[in-house]
Amino acid sequence: MQIVILNDAAEVAAYGAEIFSTQLKRKAESVLGLATGSTPVALYQELIRLNRDGELSFASAKTFNLDEYLGLEGEHPQSYRYFMNEQLFNHIDIDMDNTHVPPGDAKNPVTACQDYEARMVAAGGVDIQLLGIGRNGHIGFNEPSSGLTSRTRVKTLTKETIEDNARFFEEGEYQPHLSITMGIGTILDAKKVVLLATGENKADAIQAMVEGPITASCPASALQLHKDAVVVIDLKAANKL
Ligand code: GLP
Repeated sequence: MQIVILNDAAEVAAYGAEIFSTQLKRKAESVLGLATGSTPVALYQELIRLNRDGELSFASAKTFNLDEYLGLEGEHPQSYRYFMNEQLFNHIDIDMDNTHVPPGDAKNPVTACQDYEARMVAAGGVDIQLLGIGRNGHIGFNEPSSGLTSRTRVKTLTKETIEDNARFFEEGEYQPHLSITMGIGTILDAKKVVLLATGENKADAIQAMVEGPITASCPASALQLHKDAVVVIDLKAANKL
């Protein structure tokens, strides 16, 4: 695990964007694993800028997102498909058919998970996977107790994660308790993994991931097993290391 500690969130986003743009410039047909949450937004803005300025093209790229709420269709403003369209895809030259987010409205979620895995394999596997981290150490929606070799599947969200993500939902609005998420084994199959974290509220999770044992209690600790994992954090997220 390579740990990069930078001053603030802006530097973390710039560093992450540089890794992604270097990958795309080296291989235009890259398969990018993408993430939601507030942390990657600034990185996406930088990629949008590079694309607008003609420095970077996504025309040959494919993307696979980590996760989606089960029970929300892609048009729902709180769905991760909607988030990705709004925060990135609508603003870059990517072919929408090449963007993949697990289907939150799948009639048969079990088959949909298998199909998602098969599509990743058919695309040649993920070249570079972007990750955030939950306060409880989750990656994607792999909550504590997730199997370290798990594949894409339906996961129940913990109370803590539901509370953390409640800020995106209106009061009284239906908030799903289930998700479809790439498994930890799926994430570890990516050729490179880049995890971004900023802010004091991530410091405990970062410490557990980096210095703790490899354990299902902290799903992100599985990244210790990856041979090309880069953790990019700001001083606040690093302050318990
Ligand atoms: C959600 C997502 C995760 C993300 C996490 C942290 O639970 N499923 O992929 O890492 O939120 O989000 P934030 O970056 O907003 O702290």
